[in-house]
Amino acid sequence: MPDRINEAARTLLDSHHAVAFTGAGVSVESGIPTFRGPEGLWSRYDPESIELGHFLRNPAESWAVIKEIFYDFFGRAKPNTAHFMLAEMEACGVLREIVTQNIDNLHQEAGSRVVWEFHGTSRTLVCLACHAQHAIADVSLDTLPPLCECGGLLKPNFIFFGEGIPEPARSSSFHAAEACDVMLVIGSTGEVAPASMLPGVARNNGATIIEVNPEPSLFTAGTTDVFLQGKATEVMARLGEAMKIR
Ligand code: APR
Repeated sequence: MPDRINEAARTLLDSHHAVAFTGAGVSVESGIPTFRGPEGLWSRYDPESIELGHFLRNPAESWAVIKEIFYDFFGRAKPNTAHFMLAEMEACGVLREIVTQNIDNLHQEAGSRVVWEFHGTSRTLVCLACHAQHAIADVSLDTLPPLCECGGLLKPNFIFFGEGIPEPARSSSFHAAEACDVMLVIGSTGEVAPASMLPGVARNNGATIIEVNPEPSLFTAGTTDVFLQGKATEVMARLGEAMKIR
């Protein structure tokens, strides 16, 4: 492992356009569970709550589940060492941009500036009638479902099952994957398309893929060049040391 950490550190330091691609795993040590796996959210909650048709037919019921998962629970999470290390890598010029599947805003809270939110964000709500956007801090979730001043239903600004990837995040993320020479993939199973296509796009364009995950993912065998097996906070701290970032 020390050799592989050093190899990954050298590859990142020698890169011209490094991109990080993150999934639920980067936020696990902030207290946010993954979606899949035995402890995952989808083993405890019915994903139907964030299926668009179901939400439109049953907004109050869906909102009760959404509030519990994404606002009461996720809302208390704070960035961890992995988020902070990515922000430092950007600040010192090693990392150009982050593509994240996460909707928790933790990269931005850690100080990262260029973050493409492939699945949107939980931090704003959009009115399905007049399309006005509302910061979550300005909306009361005491009465569900929350409504816009115009009377329209408010929906979190992350994508529900049945919705397309938002722009400009989609095209910017694919552009990042095509343009990068190193992609650092952290904490994603690679099971959800089209996000799961991005490491393959990067590799087909000549990028080196460095992966951080305690378990092999769908990327590990065929796409990853350097697999750093372990938890995001531990591996990212060691990578930072090897890069002399900390
Ligand atoms: N550090 C790094 N990775 C971790 C850690 C950790 N401490 N703990 C778990 N992991 C890894 C798991 O091994 C798994 O590979 O994080 C990954 C989480 O996988 P998923 O829950 O499938 O998350 P993700 O790939 O981001 O899911 C994609 O699915 O439901 C949707 O929209 C949701 O964005 C999400 C998308």
